Amino acid sequence: MLPTSSCGGSPLFGRRPGADLIHNVVMVSIALRRTAGSAETVRAHRQWWDAEAEDYYAEHGAFLGDADFCWGPEGLRESEAGLLGSLAGKDVLEIGAGSAQCSRWVQAQGARVVATDLSLGMLRVARTIDAHHPARGVPVAQCDGRVLPFADESFDIVFTAYGVVPFVADPERVMTEVCRVLRPGGRFAFSTTHPFRWAFPDEPDEAGLTVRFSYFDRTPYVEQDSSGHATYAEHHATMSDRVRQVVTAGLRVVNLVEPEWPDGHEREWGGWSPLRGQLIPGTLIVVAERPLGQLDVGRGTG
Ligand SMILES: C[S@@+](CC[C@H](N)C(=O)[O-])C[C@H]1O[C@@H](n2cnc3c(N)ncnc32)[C@H](O)[C@@H]1O
Repeated sequence: MLPTSSCGGSPLFGRRPGADLIHNVVMVSIALRRTAGSAETVRAHRQWWDAEAEDYYAEHGAFLGDADFCWGPEGLRESEAGLLGSLAGKDVLEIGAGSAQCSRWVQAQGARVVATDLSLGMLRVARTIDAHHPARGVPVAQCDGRVLPFADESFDIVFTAYGVVPFVADPERVMTEVCRVLRPGGRFAFSTTHPFRWAFPDEPDEAGLTVRFSYFDRTPYVEQDSSGHATYAEHHATMSDRVRQVVTAGLRVVNLVEPEWPDGHEREWGGWSPLRGQLIPGTLIVVAERPLGQLDVGRGTG
């Protein structure tokens, strides 16, 4: 087993780098900070989440709830936050849906929803949940959040809870695609790792409370195999980067939410912990809208 590199903590969602048995093959990975292009990143994540899907559900499924909408490790639920607005009768798209827990909740609020994800493994877990869940089953589609197979102006709402955004090298492309498939007046909300976090090692204890890296260093966190191919990558951005990516795509930011760690919430998730949660933000939620065009003013999305 290789020691964890001291290059920049560990993946926020991933297993610690080292040796793993995946499909009966021993995969050895090391962690470092280096550039990783969009194709390499997407390829790594498709394989990584396929391999990780069942373990991810085993570890986090009970906390997420099979038909509940959780924005992140702080446990903020959409039922409480109401960031998407009214859902009944709306056409809704989830990107980076994982096993579609959020979409199941959205569907129960009376929306027509489609859950999409890059990883067939994650969507297979969604199907397994559907098989024993009393809800009707959520329509799912496998796709990259950077290339959405939907017509222009198909949805009233698009969202993702920690899907896609931190896992792509070109988030502006995701924002542009989302803007395209949204109807004028439609809403996009996403949660992602708080930009502030990248300056700290991703450790839940005191070790995660000391700034070790420049907040302004955007070099991605990458795990790579012995051939140098990325097996996992997280791409970080500053707060102004995140806002600029949304605005440049043609969306208007209407809210920024930094969920606080609730009293009594003891569950750790990787580097998210009660200790750190009381001191530094862990999650950023961005809520944006596609502006109404001149011809749309007064029409809205109903
Ligand atoms: C941390 S999981 C979050 C899943 C789900 N939203 C949840 O709350 O459990 C990240 C998800 O993003 C997906 N993902 C990563 N890169 C993606 C991409 N380029 N397009 C679509 N999904 C992607 C992964 O397959 C994975 O299911």
